[in-house]
Amino acid sequence: MAGNAENAVSVKSVYKNYGKVEALRDLSLDFPRGQLTSLLGPSGCGKTTLLKIIAGLLPATSGEVLVNGESVKGPGPDRAFVFQDFALMPWATVIRNVAFGLELRGVAKSEREAIAEKYISEVGLKGFEKSFPHELSGGMRQRVGLARALSVDAQVLLMDEPFSAVDEQTRRKFQEDLLNLVQNETKTFIFVTHSIEEAVYVSDQVAILLPRPSRVMEVIRPEGFRQNADVNSIRRDPEYLDIVDRIWAALRTYVE
Ligand SMILES: Nc1ncnc2c1ncn2[C@@H]1O[C@H](COP(=O)(O)OP(=O)(O)O)[C@@H](O)[C@H]1O
Ligand SMILES: [Mg+2]
Repeated sequence: MAGNAENAVSVKSVYKNYGKVEALRDLSLDFPRGQLTSLLGPSGCGKTTLLKIIAGLLPATSGEVLVNGESVKGPGPDRAFVFQDFALMPWATVIRNVAFGLELRGVAKSEREAIAEKYISEVGLKGFEKSFPHELSGGMRQRVGLARALSVDAQVLLMDEPFSAVDEQTRRKFQEDLLNLVQNETKTFIFVTHSIEEAVYVSDQVAILLPRPSRVMEVIRPEGFRQNADVNSIRRDPEYLDIVDRIWAALRTYVE
């Protein structure tokens, strides 16, 4: 296998221009396997662009992305995008929606429903298998989207500001659940957020991006409090508070 086996994804010197708009310039970043990496940066700096390039939905102008050492040429079953507005089928039940990715792959009904049930339970939706999307809150619909992405067993999960449209309490609950998911699953999460606190709370690694044309300014790896499994004490941990301050100090110069 080419590349570093410890990294599920490696972005190598990626440039992306949209016509005259230079979105990414020489951006390189490694995503360690089984960990959650946040992309944090000012609005419009190119976070969604980078995610789409990793997903294979958008070609880079130059440079390359390696997934398990293989160069990305397009979308693949090894990566699943958890969309910002989860594209659920309104006419289908939760379980059908969650199992949909497996249905597309031709997995038999009993098998795909067993897998879907496992993830419905894991994202906290047990009991809602037969509900329809319109019967659920926005937060619950997001969980359906997450369960769908988990069900297809992609190794790499791409999440683009998944919590931006939900209320603060729902968001906090999600963040806790996400931490548990990262611990319980062997998947690699690539998580876009514009919240410093959120990034530090959920991440094994936080990549701070510069404004457009974007590249990585700094990668911060919280160490101590990540070992502490108690989700309730993280926000009081001195290291957590220190990292939040450091990131703000780095970013504030770019905020007008
Ligand atoms: N399809 C597109 N055509 C032209 N410009 C685009 C397109 N998509 C994004 N951009 C521009 O590229 C920059 C990065 O966008 P984006 O990746 O969406 O940033 P972010 O997700 O960090 O807010 C922005 O200046 C945006 O206006
Ligand atoms: Mg975006």
